[in-house]
Amino acid sequence: MPIDIKQIVTERLGENYDLHERYINRTLVSVQRTIGFDKIYANARGAYLYDLDGLEYLDFLSGYSVFNIGRNHPAVKQAIRDVVDMDLPNMVQMDCSLLSGVLAEALVKRMPAHLNAVFFCNSGAEAMEGAIKFARAATGRGGLVSLEGAFHGLSMGALSIMGNPHFQDGFGPYLEGCHRVQIGNLTAVESLLTTGGIAAVIMEPVQGKGVKYPKDNFFNEVQRLCREHGALLISDEVQCGLGRTGKWFGFQHWDLEPDIITLAKSLSGGFVPVGAIATRREIYQKTFNQMDRCVVHSSTFGRNNLAMACGLATLQVIEDEGLVENTARMGELLVSRLNELKERHSVIKEIRGKGLILAIEFHEPKELALKLGWKGLHKMEVNLFTQMVVTSLLSRHRILTQVAAHGLDTLKILPPLMIGEAEVEKFVMALDSVLKDCRKFPGPLWDLAANFFRHSLRKPASVP
Ligand SMILES: Cc1ncc(COP(=O)(O)O)c(C=O)c1O
Repeated sequence: MPIDIKQIVTERLGENYDLHERYINRTLVSVQRTIGFDKIYANARGAYLYDLDGLEYLDFLSGYSVFNIGRNHPAVKQAIRDVVDMDLPNMVQMDCSLLSGVLAEALVKRMPAHLNAVFFCNSGAEAMEGAIKFARAATGRGGLVSLEGAFHGLSMGALSIMGNPHFQDGFGPYLEGCHRVQIGNLTAVESLLTTGGIAAVIMEPVQGKGVKYPKDNFFNEVQRLCREHGALLISDEVQCGLGRTGKWFGFQHWDLEPDIITLAKSLSGGFVPVGAIATRREIYQKTFNQMDRCVVHSSTFGRNNLAMACGLATLQVIEDEGLVENTARMGELLVSRLNELKERHSVIKEIRGKGLILAIEFHEPKELALKLGWKGLHKMEVNLFTQMVVTSLLSRHRILTQVAAHGLDTLKILPPLMIGEAEVEKFVMALDSVLKDCRKFPGPLWDLAANFFRHSLRKPASVP
């Protein structure tokens, strides 16, 4: 008898956390239980998740930027059905599949002309691994320069160019020849490039961790120096690409011309893993430079039909629904509404971001009573205040958000790109209300934060 997935879901929904505790990552389960994130979601559509009682949750996390077009989009579901119903040949490997060719063509059409060759893989980290290999093969050099605060994935190569020690601790040694510089430190970039041993400088247009980016022409100068010294510029668009920043690609905010870009996350619309590298044809060919090296870099599932069909459907949705333009509009609205909140809440230090990758950074408030609460929490753990806000947004207002990174007092939001004014208003009102509740010190919100600490949650949940 074939397995009945519908029956499994109907009968067993609710066992989620117990199963994970028993068989998967029980530390994550403990964290979710402690911070009140142990919800059972039963359905999802667009910008909303629904629990077992049918209660609606606004998803301002988007699966870490996977659900840019919203959850369970009918166009992507149809693409999956079509592929399955046609009994298409898949991953024959010793052929050239049609759908991967058509998706590569569709991507190239949307990118600047110099990015004209595509390699498909299965994740963001895998795309970064490939980008490192392409850069090394193209330049014959080994050195890599990345930025402090960077997050490029958790496989060994990606981890080697990581700018967050938290994720590295315990997993070394790393790739040789990796250097990190602060955003803005052109002198450091130049002195590394001058050695002649650097294959590439790697940047995220807006860093996923902490939502940081240069406010000046740092990236343009890095690009100029790369050209001068024969190094490549890699733009990691895994989180920023495909509309997230209010432009098709994050590098377009600085009019850059990166030699290599990487994509993943939202490219396949949220059902099937996917990753992609786009580069200049001449760089591509340096990796696949002779017949016996034609698969020297490859991945078994890389061009699988489901991912490719979903990619085509997703690109079409982004265009048909004007999601890039909507992102720019909703991002502007959010920033201006959040700046109004900043006037009323001295605990807000800064609102920053581009499009719909936004950060609300907190600092010590001016009010005396709040100062005490803030100082107390910071003695315990630096993220606790933000975690308290994140938990309250979920428990009191049913809005899903995240702490932006370890060690930062920053709330990060990544709404789906299809939100409207109603969702913007809902979030702003909820944040206003949570920050008003914070003024009651001592009070239930501060107790909540102290409780996290008592449950020995020394590292609040900030996951990629
Ligand atoms: C900018 C960036 N690069 C790479 C990755 C790694 O992607 P994946 O989790 O698909 O390996 C992430 C994931 O969050 C990311 O944000």
